[in-house]
Amino acid sequence: MVDDTKLNEFIGQILGDLGGALSVSLVRIGDRLGLYRALHADGPMTPGELATKTNIAERYAREWLSHQAASGYVSYEPSSGRFTLPPEQAMVFAEPNSPVYMQGGFDLAMVMMENQTLVEPAFRTGKGVGWGDQSQCLFCAAGRFFRAGYHNSLVASWLPALDGMTAKLDRGAMVADVGCGHGFSTVIMAKAFPNSTFVGYDFHPGSVEQARLHAEQHGVTANTRFEVGMASEFPGKDLDLVTFFDCLHDMGDPVGAARHVRQTLKPNGSWMIVEPAAGDRLEDNLNPVGRLFYAGSTMICVPTSLDQPVGAALGAQAGFAKLSSVISEGGFERVRKAAETPFNIILEARP
Ligand SMILES: C[S@@+](CC[C@H](N)C(=O)[O-])C[C@H]1O[C@@H](n2cnc3c(N)ncnc32)[C@H](O)[C@@H]1O
Repeated sequence: MVDDTKLNEFIGQILGDLGGALSVSLVRIGDRLGLYRALHADGPMTPGELATKTNIAERYAREWLSHQAASGYVSYEPSSGRFTLPPEQAMVFAEPNSPVYMQGGFDLAMVMMENQTLVEPAFRTGKGVGWGDQSQCLFCAAGRFFRAGYHNSLVASWLPALDGMTAKLDRGAMVADVGCGHGFSTVIMAKAFPNSTFVGYDFHPGSVEQARLHAEQHGVTANTRFEVGMASEFPGKDLDLVTFFDCLHDMGDPVGAARHVRQTLKPNGSWMIVEPAAGDRLEDNLNPVGRLFYAGSTMICVPTSLDQPVGAALGAQAGFAKLSSVISEGGFERVRKAAETPFNIILEARP
């Protein structure tokens, strides 16, 4: 027997969900054409003023602004006909250094839609989809999505949460940043700790190229290097710190990676593993953050891992218990949760 109240509530939810899904391309257009940046920099505008400012057609500006107002992304003042980007919305759409900047999330949503043609057949075969074969936007989207968290938390709170690590980095330490992607984390650390040396490794050659360019743009080539390398094989010896940012669960053989990291560290070295925040049980993760991460995990992380040898497919919502058992199996004596945010857990493993 259908309960009308429940049905109406659910239809309300789905309207919101579909509205969000249909907004993805509009938000990305607003980002790429500088519409949010213009509204943020110059304040309330009519469609004509926005069109002139950003060099777009007024008819499109009006329709786009109307959608943004209906979404609650901008506010609308009927008496003046002007649209405003409120400060809270600006943090999400127009301030790349804000801790809640989400444009990378919209880029990832687009990646997942483009990945459907690759992942759907894999549901039947059980095979993986290679990281390098996925939507071309994936590599930049992933870097952009995580960058805000690294910018705000990595040097300010995550590294200080590791035992004695900032003192070592200040003095001069040897660090490997594994699965570094476009090297956002590597560059942030290299800037903050000029006496230390950072080598970024990733198995995706295109990302390593981008990381090198990125280091050049930020003037940190003196204490960074980027190389193509698998997590279970990268060259390294007597390292003070190895970092894995949002990549352990993507790997085919996370235990093999853990075992290898153990061999590259000094006896008093540390392994920092940053992973998506998650509880240990499915029922702990049935919430809005878990929903986003399970979506990313199904469309990106699980296919990436299944494409590699072993194919452990931990999933993006592995949780502390599962992650610690992987880390311990790799030969680490101690593992603890050093810090956490609504989106990430930061683990420290010691030999
Ligand atoms: C979600 S991205 C994170 C990238 C980067 N650490 C960041 O936080 O922006 C996962 C990265 O892991 C890399 N990766 C996946 N499996 C790997 C493996 N077995 N060895 C080395 N890198 C791997 C991918 O190429 C990709 O750059």
